[in-house]
Amino acid sequence: MATEEVGLAIPTPPSQNTGVCASLHSALASTASDSMRALVFERYGAPERLMPRTLPIPQPRAGELRVRVVATTVTRTDTATLRGHPFFARAMTGILRPKMRTLGMDFAGVVDATGPDVARFQPGDRVFGLLPERFGAHAEYLCIDSEAAVMPMPANLDFDACVVGEGAWYANGTTRVLREGQRCLIYGASGAIGTAAIQLAKARGAHVTAVVGHRHVDLARSLGADRTIDYQSVDFTALDETFDLVFDAAGKTSWFACRRLLSRGGIFSATDLGPWWSNLVLSAWFSMTGSARVRIPFPEDARGFLASLATLMADGRFRGVFDRHYRLAEMVDAFRYVETGQKTGIVVVDVNDS
Ligand SMILES: NC(=O)c1ccc[n+]([C@@H]2O[C@H](COP(=O)([O-])OP(=O)(O)OC[C@H]3O[C@@H](n4cnc5c(N)ncnc54)[C@H](OP(=O)(O)O)[C@@H]3O)[C@@H](O)[C@H]2O)c1
Repeated sequence: MATEEVGLAIPTPPSQNTGVCASLHSALASTASDSMRALVFERYGAPERLMPRTLPIPQPRAGELRVRVVATTVTRTDTATLRGHPFFARAMTGILRPKMRTLGMDFAGVVDATGPDVARFQPGDRVFGLLPERFGAHAEYLCIDSEAAVMPMPANLDFDACVVGEGAWYANGTTRVLREGQRCLIYGASGAIGTAAIQLAKARGAHVTAVVGHRHVDLARSLGADRTIDYQSVDFTALDETFDLVFDAAGKTSWFACRRLLSRGGIFSATDLGPWWSNLVLSAWFSMTGSARVRIPFPEDARGFLASLATLMADGRFRGVFDRHYRLAEMVDAFRYVETGQKTGIVVVDVNDS
């Protein structure tokens, strides 16, 4: 039974940034004109590994632009990378020690300088982007290749509204399989990935059933879900219907629990490895049998995706859902909060004034 009628207001958590480390505040308080503030980690571990550092402002090389970061985010990708979990992901991020020292995938800011051979941008341009491989947005300045995942900001949006790339990019890795009129169920549709998945699935013309906790029912509906199910009152795995796509966007269910919800040819996709790494094992097994019945989406083409996302954002078909705001000096608290697994949408970090 679906709970279309549950109508609780969506609480927007206040900016209760408690327990801020005093040394972090003072270390990040002021910098010389050729230096910048950044959060650096040298060993994998808990949020307390994040250390404030004063670093030289990076100089853009040929083809690069330098961005003065106004807003960034703390994501589940950042928290997992800080912890070095899952271990095999260290093949990309560094086995014993992290290769990158500053986290942060999303940024929005102002182009502050350009290196030689940059045609697309000039100082003063408002840009937003994604740093999927190298991170680096938890700093006041960053340099990025002008042909990488960096786009002009839609003119009608603020900086905060543009730090939406991480969740949307992962969501798109799954929702891109949908075609007009297909039916999908999104479990955990209230996180960064889930809120994006609702909107991207709707943009593809799919019928969306969003499964959320009761505090998020109104939110899911406001994002365009055709139907909402409160998983705290209804066991969605017992529904007597089928879907072309069941997307576990919270990492809290499994193919075994959901397989009877799949239509013939339907796909189960998950953002996490699943119990006993079952999603990884099953996706490998099914791909050997020539089927994509279970998938762990590996997103690709960040630049191409960001361009299409900018269009959706500019015409109002996609909007970020934002939870708390923190400042750079409150980064440890921001990581602790994201690690609770209870944020709604995106946690923003305000870095510089716009
Ligand atoms: N594959 C990758 O590279 C990758 C990258 C990023 C993230 N991830 C994974 O993707 C998942 C989603 O990431 P995210 O950033 O979107 O998460 P998130 O923002 O941290 O999700 C938080 C939301 O999940 C919901 N939730 C918590 N427990 C739940 C449960 N038992 N059932 C259903 N919903 C539940 C909560 O809302 P309710 O109150 O509505 O329950 C909460 O608002 C995470 O598990 C993360 O580990 C994977």
